[in-house]
Amino acid sequence: MKVSIASDHAGFEQKEALAAYLVERGFDVVDRGPATDDRVDYPDFALPVALDVARGLSERGVLVCGTGIGMALAADKVAGVRAANIVSVKFAELCREHNDANVIALSGRFVDLETNERILDAFFSTDFAGGRHAGRVEKIMKLEGAVVEEA
Ligand code: RB5
Repeated sequence: MKVSIASDHAGFEQKEALAAYLVERGFDVVDRGPATDDRVDYPDFALPVALDVARGLSERGVLVCGTGIGMALAADKVAGVRAANIVSVKFAELCREHNDANVIALSGRFVDLETNERILDAFFSTDFAGGRHAGRVEKIMKLEGAVVEEA
């Protein structure tokens, strides 16, 4: 499976380790940077991963920042992306099973590497359950481009 990965400075160390972890397990990993742990803005690195997934260049995306929150917020702005900020193995299973998440945003500062590896194991080995969840995910996707009407 082709996977795009990126981080900011706060997630850089784990991004490097997790990219190697995925390569070891046979994934075709596209590293969208950064190449160093110099301070950067996380939306600049969420975007190329989100675009890879939205355009079908990669099947899934992995993002790492301090919390994972900013990366998920940024990636979810791109149409076609369902990014989830995940800090537990159970939630990794559920974001696939119930939400068909195609991008996972991890915390490099508050979750240790071994846990993030287990989280990725769950993210990549769990299928979308479909059924009653399918219509809900369709409704999420219909929210893309929703605008707030002026009062
Ligand atoms: C960077 O200091 C930090 O704000 C960022 O890595 C991330 O946690 C944002 O959500």
